[in-house]
Amino acid sequence: MSRKLSRLVLVSNRVPVGETTPGGLAVALKDALSTRQVLWFGWSGGLTDKTGAGLTSIRRGNVEYAVTDLTTDEYEGYYAGYANKALWPSFHYRLDLAEYQPDEFATYMAVNARFARELFERISPSDQIWIHDYHLIPLAAELRKFGVTNPIGFFSHIPFPSPEIFRAIPQHAALASGLMACDLVGFQSDRDRSNFERYAAEQAAMSALPANAPQTGGSRMRAMAFPIGIDAVGFAKEAETSAGCAPAALVGAGKCLILGVDRMDYSKGLVERVTAIETLLDSRPDLCERVSYIQVTPPSRGEVDAYAQLRIELETCIGHVNGRFTTLDWAPVRYLAQGLPRNELAGLYRDAAVGLVTPLRDGMNLVAKEFVAAQDPRNPGVLVLSEFAGVAEQLPEALIINPHDPAQQARAIEHALAMPLPERQERHAAMMDTLNRYDASWWCGAFLQELAVATSRSSAVQAGAAHAHNEPLTAPQIAAGALAVAGCRLSGS
Ligand code: F6P
Repeated sequence: MSRKLSRLVLVSNRVPVGETTPGGLAVALKDALSTRQVLWFGWSGGLTDKTGAGLTSIRRGNVEYAVTDLTTDEYEGYYAGYANKALWPSFHYRLDLAEYQPDEFATYMAVNARFARELFERISPSDQIWIHDYHLIPLAAELRKFGVTNPIGFFSHIPFPSPEIFRAIPQHAALASGLMACDLVGFQSDRDRSNFERYAAEQAAMSALPANAPQTGGSRMRAMAFPIGIDAVGFAKEAETSAGCAPAALVGAGKCLILGVDRMDYSKGLVERVTAIETLLDSRPDLCERVSYIQVTPPSRGEVDAYAQLRIELETCIGHVNGRFTTLDWAPVRYLAQGLPRNELAGLYRDAAVGLVTPLRDGMNLVAKEFVAAQDPRNPGVLVLSEFAGVAEQLPEALIINPHDPAQQARAIEHALAMPLPERQERHAAMMDTLNRYDASWWCGAFLQELAVATSRSSAVQAGAAHAHNEPLTAPQIAAGALAVAGCRLSGS
C-alpha cells in the first residue's frame, strides 16, 4: 500500500527560482522536487528599501517557491556580514580572517527570526522541514519558539570545524542551540560529524551540572554524515556530448590540459595551486609548451574585503608565473575570471588530462565529482585532490595531496601526467562506482528517510521530556542535548 508523502518544506539562503540550469542543490534534491509537494523558502537574491516587504510566491508544478527580498541592512549584517565575515572563515579554519561584529550577529539572528515568522505562517503540522547551510543555523530554534513541532532537519554544506576552532566563535553556544533544536543534523563528512560530536561532548563535560540540578533539557537531535552526491549518469552524458570544448592547440598530439574550476574563494587554495604550477615548470622545463593550465574562477562575494584581496593576490601570482614562462606561442596559465555554461564546463572536464581540486578546506567539493563523472572511461584523466576536501573521504583513488605543500602538489601533477592507462582506468572505475552508489538520489533519500526515523524516535524522547520548544535552550539544556549527541555514533556511508 503506498503512503502519501507529506509536503517537504525546503529552506535555503538562495532559492533557484529563476535559474535555467539547476545548481548543485537543485540537482541533489531532484528526486524530492519531482515526487512531492514542495515549498521552497528563502532569499530572492534581491534587495529592497522597504522593511516587511513580504513574500513573492511562484508555483512551478508541484513546487511553490516563496521568496523574500532583504533590506540593505539585512544584506550587510546577515549575508555579507555575519554569514560571510564570521561563519564562513571560521568554519574554513581562517580565524585570521574572521570578524565577529555584535551588530552583524544581531542582524543575522533577526533575519533568522523573520524567516521563522514568515515560514510559520505557511507551514502545516504534517510538513517535513529541511534547512540548508550556515546562513540559517538558528532557524530551527526560532521556529521552535513559535511552537513548531514538525520534524526539522538541517544540512551543513560547509565543513564543521574542530571544537578548538568552533569555540573561538563568541556566539558558538547560540549556534549550537540552533542545531540542537533540529531532529537531524547532516554533515558532509565523517570528519565534520565527529568534530561536532567532539564539541558536544566537551561542552557537556564543561557544563557538568550539580548533582541535584533539575534536568530540563533532552535534545532530540541526531548527527550523521551524508556526503552530497551528483547525478553522475546525467553528467557523464552531458560531458560526452560536449567533449571537444578545449582549443585544439591545448589538447592536440603531445599536449595536455590541466584544469581547475572554483568559485573565487580563499578556501580553494588557488594561490597555492598556481605556485605548484610554477614549481612544476621550474623542475620540469620540458613540460613548457606541452602542458597548459586553465583556471575557471567566477568571482564571488566581492563586497567582502578578503575576497577582493584574494583576487588581487591571485591575479598577481598568475601574472608572475605567466610573465616568467610565457612564449610568443604559449602561456602556462589561462585564467578566466568568469563562469562558463554547464555544458561547456562538462566538455572541458572531459578534455582535461588532469583535474586540480586542491582546496585548503572544503565541505565536499562537487567539482571533483563532476570531473570524475565527465571522463571518458576508455581514456580517463586523473584527479589531484586535497586531503582537506570532504570528498577525499569518498575518493581515496584520486592522487591525494596536501595543498600547503606546492612541491608535493607539483609531483602529483607530474605523476598524473605520466600515469599509465591501466592505472588511470582502474582508479577511475573505482571512483565511478562510489559516485554511482552515493549519487544525488541516495543523498536526498537517505537524509529524508533518516529524518523520518529520527523524528519518530525523538517523539518518544519528547513525550517524556518537560522541555517546551517556545524558549531558547539554556546552557545546561545544550549540554544535556550534547550528551545525547555524543552518545550516538552513526555514519552515512
Ligand atoms: O557551499 C556553500 C554555499 O553557500 C552554497 O550554498 C552557495 O551556493 C555557494 O556557497 C555560493 O555562495 P553565495 O551564495 O555566497 O554566492
